[in-house]
Amino acid sequence: MDVQRGQWSSRMGFIFAAAGSAIGLGNIWRFPYVVGENGGAAFVLLYVVFVVVIGLPYMFAELALGRSVQRNPVGSIEAIVPGSWWKWVGFLGVLTGVGILSFYGVVAGWTVGYIFKMAMGNFTDFTSFIANPWPVLGLFALFIFITASIVYGGVEGGIERWSKILMPVLLVLLLGLIIYANTLDGASRGLTFYLKPDFSKINGSIALQALGQAFFSLSLGMGLMITYGSYLSKEENIITSGIYIGLFDTAIAIMAGLIIFPALFAMGESPTAGPALVFVVLPKLFANMPGGVLIGVLFFILLSIAALTSTISLLEVPVAYLVDEFKFPRKKIVWPAALFTFIIGIPSALSQGAVDFFTNLGWLPRALSAPDVLSHMSFLWGTFSLAFGALMLSIFVGWVWGTDKASNEIVQGSPFFIKTKFIWAFMIRYFIPVVIFILLLNIFGLF
Ligand code: PHE
Repeated sequence: MDVQRGQWSSRMGFIFAAAGSAIGLGNIWRFPYVVGENGGAAFVLLYVVFVVVIGLPYMFAELALGRSVQRNPVGSIEAIVPGSWWKWVGFLGVLTGVGILSFYGVVAGWTVGYIFKMAMGNFTDFTSFIANPWPVLGLFALFIFITASIVYGGVEGGIERWSKILMPVLLVLLLGLIIYANTLDGASRGLTFYLKPDFSKINGSIALQALGQAFFSLSLGMGLMITYGSYLSKEENIITSGIYIGLFDTAIAIMAGLIIFPALFAMGESPTAGPALVFVVLPKLFANMPGGVLIGVLFFILLSIAALTSTISLLEVPVAYLVDEFKFPRKKIVWPAALFTFIIGIPSALSQGAVDFFTNLGWLPRALSAPDVLSHMSFLWGTFSLAFGALMLSIFVGWVWGTDKASNEIVQGSPFFIKTKFIWAFMIRYFIPVVIFILLLNIFGLF
């Protein structure tokens, strides 16, 4: 083992860090609004099915690859097929990390801003808040700065410690809010929308959104799990760790919906508000609640921290790449990488009303419901690029590295895997690539 590379200090350390990466704005901000935009319960069901039949088996592949060669996404591929074009797939993953962080950091900045808004008892005006350029840019910069300071400290020191303490607190707060939201008048219509599927609503583009959201939420498709897997010791059980991560992550997303949808219907808001959904609905809920200021503050603090454990992981991928492949000292490369991401993110930050050009990309084909830069970035990196990356990486693991080698890696630490490895091999070689490919074709309007 290369001593320059970190390693998780314990099994729980890894699970918490990987769950910390998975759980974030994707669960509490993005999941509810994509559910709202895509018709509710049928989407939720499809999402859960994709998590189980595609997300999890695919996650094992990323973890196995990372642990086997102990490199970043590009280095891992290079270690298996030196000098081939496959390394560009790894490079796309590194770029995707930067691309996601560039818009994710903006939303994380809003979250921090909302801590102060809640503290001041100011529960409204989301639209004017995000259109105000200087605070939004400042909060975005602050968030990237905090992220970089933690990544600077390295794997065990920074990433593990944070995730361990705060995740359980978030869970308890969400439970309390579920109970409260469901006692409101009219809440049950929200539950119906959220939990009673109407299958006529499913079509190809909704299925792609559900798949993309599954990858996004589980932090898959860009080599994050390759990178985190590379810090994993051989004794760890990849299968049960992966299942825990998937379970936590899905549970938090489902819980977020159990708060948002009942609250939203009770308050007569529309489920199709897009990225604004959570920031509009939840403060309204807090405003009418006894102790709402306190709960609002606590909620946005926890959400900021959940976002932070994800932004840390997003920055860790490009940083691990630069450290491994160019031998840059970690401490020297973190700041330029963070600054670069910040600059790339400026258009997203200014795309919610601050600058007209970024707010309305009217000249682009109208594939999305919203025409702003941030929504486009979210689709490009957070849906398309992850799905494409997962397609390529499952082909890579299934056909180039080979499922035999991958299975041998997984079996170390999970002996029982030997019995199911044929099913898994089939999923990685055929099922997963074919499903992703078909859904991606849909972008070009083929169905
Ligand atoms: N999974 C994170 C979330 O749901 C976002 C993320 C995506 C993080 C990809 C890392 C890699 O908030």
